[in-house]
Amino acid sequence: MSVRSLESDLPICFSEVGIVTSGVAILDDISLTFSADAPTLLIGPNGSGKTTLLRAAMGLLPVSRGRITWGGREVSPPTRRAIMFQHPVMLRRSAAANIRYALAAAGVERAEREPRVVELLTLVGLEPLAHRPARRLSGGEQQRLSLARALARDPAVLFLDEPTASLDPAATKAIEDIVRAISARGIKVVMATHDLGEAKRLAGDIVLLHRGRIIESGPAERFFAAPAADDAKSFLAGELLI
Ligand SMILES: Nc1ncnc2c1ncn2[C@@H]1O[C@H](COP(=O)(O)OP(=O)(O)O)[C@@H](O)[C@H]1O
Ligand SMILES: [Mg+2]
Repeated sequence: MSVRSLESDLPICFSEVGIVTSGVAILDDISLTFSADAPTLLIGPNGSGKTTLLRAAMGLLPVSRGRITWGGREVSPPTRRAIMFQHPVMLRRSAAANIRYALAAAGVERAEREPRVVELLTLVGLEPLAHRPARRLSGGEQQRLSLARALARDPAVLFLDEPTASLDPAATKAIEDIVRAISARGIKVVMATHDLGEAKRLAGDIVLLHRGRIIESGPAERFFAAPAADDAKSFLAGELLI
């Protein structure tokens, strides 16, 4: 293991970050900190900038202004960060083989892969389905397999983009339980959702986005009990932010 990979990516700090694509500001004046605590939940209506913020935090998008630092460094290879996109694509192989592939891609030695495959399948409750073709798993099972694949990188920070968006309540609960287990292992989770109930169940911190800007951010307890911004009150009251 290199020295660099032992350095922490945390905290991740955004300082007055703006991202402009095709002349349109899709993130504007974003300042926030992701610290090594309970999960941070990004909430906000469709198109508010959640996915863009996750991609920027992962280091996949260059910023147009401001800066992002990872553990105080402006450049940090994403070796200990992982992102699970909203519509993950499974390899046309078994569930176990999908994880094995991710472990190989993450540079895990061949001899170490099999125990890790079993450990990750167990963590996400898919051990009984280890040999099933991944593309024949249910939606919820595929999301759990994607979580296991993301964890193959042994990340210190895990970004999740609406992992429960198209799932029924039982499958959603299974994902949320795994997110809690991941967080309890000391992995920082930053997760986008448009489901307020989910945010309430999982969040340590909340970031509410609207039109690429932060409306309000802070500890979840305070946010839900006594939101300060008018738009935050409206959003919590179930009104549409347009
Ligand atoms: N590559 C891009 N080019 C132009 N506009 C984009 C691009 N990516 C995202 N956007 C726009 O930026 C806004 C925020 O998008 P996104 O981050 O996907 O929001 P969310 O995940 O909250 O739904 C949307 O209006 C979207 O259309
Ligand atoms: Mg999105």
